[in-house]
Formats: sequence, structure tokens, C-alpha cells
Amino acid sequence: MSGSNASGVKSFVGLIVAALIGVPLFIFMVVKLFTAGSGVDLGLSTMTNEAISARLQPVGVSKVVDSAPPGSRTGKMVFEAVCIACHGAGLAGSPKFGDAGMWGPRIAKGFDTLIDHALHGFNAMPARGGAADLTDDEVKRAVAYMANAGGAKFVAPEPAAGAGGAIDPEVKGKEVFESTCKTCHGTGLLGAPTFGDKGQWAAKLNGKDPKAVIENVLKNGNGQMPVKGGYTGSDDEFRAAAHYMINHAK
Ligand code: HEC
Ligand code: HEC
Repeated sequence: MSGSNASGVKSFVGLIVAALIGVPLFIFMVVKLFTAGSGVDLGLSTMTNEAISARLQPVGVSKVVDSAPPGSRTGKMVFEAVCIACHGAGLAGSPKFGDAGMWGPRIAKGFDTLIDHALHGFNAMPARGGAADLTDDEVKRAVAYMANAGGAKFVAPEPAAGAGGAIDPEVKGKEVFESTCKTCHGTGLLGAPTFGDKGQWAAKLNGKDPKAVIENVLKNGNGQMPVKGGYTGSDDEFRAAAHYMINHAK
């Protein structure tokens, strides 16, 4: 009885001692943690950003940001700036770009599921490929671009027209060229500078700023060159077609 009493008293004393030392120590640690918290937080978020940037190759990301206003980037642009980091070589088990064998089972899931996984992440696939600034439509376009290169025939929402210079000359510009400008510029009809002919295009541009030349034929035409080349779509699409021709005559 007395023995157990004594040990009871001992453990009671021990408890008080522990409380006397332990409680302040505990508070000290909590306070320390709390005050250190802001510092640690800053450090951590910097590290995380660095880690993310390193993984996403910042050069590529800034390229996509610089090349076109957000929301108007094409699937190809998004792929080349963001998704290529993994999907280009099939890193981390990602389906490799252009590999129909790897994309087949993915495509079979359906466009909506793939979009959902690309937007919100899927195993080692980060949400939006890790590029939080991509809009939903841009991600959709990138999914379609990659899946179509692997055998799908998905149709993604097109970039909004009129987003100044955002329309890819190699995609939309080429399309407008094929449908409209080629009639004359394909063969040099009526004295039009022929597609791909450096000499003829250099002579037409004659050292002038291509932008000014394009704006002029867009608004006024030039001799046999009809106003806007007779194109009925948007001004930006006409500009893209003109850039497409000029880019291929360099
Ligand atoms: C950091 C690497 C990484 C980047 C960057 C990345 N992906 Fe992925 N992606 C993966 C991996 C890994 C998988 C395979 C995940 C799995 O099946 O477990 C994947 C799978 C996918 C799939 C198939 C999902 C499914 O359900 O099978 C789609 C679609 C996709 N990615 C789209 C994109 C798009 C669009 C981008 C660019 C905006 C992108 N990814 C960028 C790593 C990446
Ligand atoms: C009916 C024929 C015709 C069509 C269609 C046409 N062009 Fe032209 N284009 C011309 C001719 C002719 C010239 C040469 C004008 C000149 O310098 O006298 C020209 C010149 C140009 C030039 C050089 C600028 C200049 O003043 O010479 C650009 C840029 C151009 N066209 C863009 C386009 C685009 C873009 C389209 C399609 C959307 C288009 N053209 C469709 C006939 C055409």
C-alpha cells in the first residue's frame, strides 16, 4: 500500500516537474515553429517554384507566354512550350508524342476523359502539365494536338479570332493561303509574288517593313492585288496568311 502510495507521489511529483519543464518547452517550440513559419514558408514556396520551373523548363514556359496572349495559344504552341517536356520523349511513362501505339489506349478513353485528366492531373501527369496559366481551351487544344498526332481525330475549340497576332501563320495562315491566296500567289498569276520565291518577295517588300506592306494591301489592295486578297474572314487571319507567305520566302 505505502509502496504504491510512494510511487504514486513520485509519479505525481514527476508529472509536476515534467509540466514545469515540459509546458514552457512545448510553448517555446510552438512559438519557435510559428515565428519561423513565415520564414520557412517563403523559403519553401521559392524552392517549390524553382522545382516546378526546372521541371517545366522555364525557357519554354516564357516562350508560350511571350508568343501570344493567354487564351489564344494553339495546341501546337502549348505542346511545344509545356507538354513536350515530358511527352516529347515519353518521360515518366507519359505517352510519347506521335507514338500511335502508346496513344491508342489513351485515345480509347475518349476526348472528355483525357481533357479531364490533363486539366486536373492523372498519376504522374500534373494538372495542366504544371503550367497553371493555361486556359481550359488551351489545354484542350494541346490534348487534341497530341492525341491527333497519335491517331485521334479530336476537334478542340479554336483560338478566338482577332486576338492580334495570336493566330498561328503555320496553321490558320496556311489554311487561308490554300483557300484564297494560292489562286494568284501559288503560280504568280497577274504578277503576284509567287509562294516560296525569295527574289519576287524581296522585290515586293523592297526593304519595307512587312507589317506596313501587309496593312496596306489589307486596307487598299495594290493594283491587281484585291483589297484583303478578296478574303472574307477576319483581318488577323489575312495577316496570318500574309506572314505565312513572307515567312516561306526568307
Ligand atoms: C511533368 C511531366 C508532364 C508534363 C509536363 C505533361 N504531362 Fe501529360 N502525362 C504525364 C505522364 C507521366 C502521363 C501518364 C500518366 C499515367 O498514365 O499514369 C501523362 C498523361 C497524359 C495524358 C493521358 C491521360 C490519360 O488519361 O491517359 C494526357 C491527355 C496528357 N498527359 C496531356 C498533357 C498535356 C496537354 C500537357 C501539356 C499542357 C501535358 N500532358 C504535360 C506527364 C506530363
Ligand atoms: C486575284 C489575285 C490575288 C489574290 C487572290 C491574292 N493576291 Fe496578293 N497580290 C496579288 C498581286 C497581283 C500582287 C502584286 C501587287 C503589286 O505589287 O502590284 C499581290 C501582292 C501581295 C502582297 C505584297 C504586297 C504588295 O503590295 O505587293 C501581299 C502581302 C499579298 N499579296 C497578300 C495576299 C494574301 C494574304 C492573300 C490571300 C488572303 C492574297 N494576297 C491574295 C494578287 C493576289
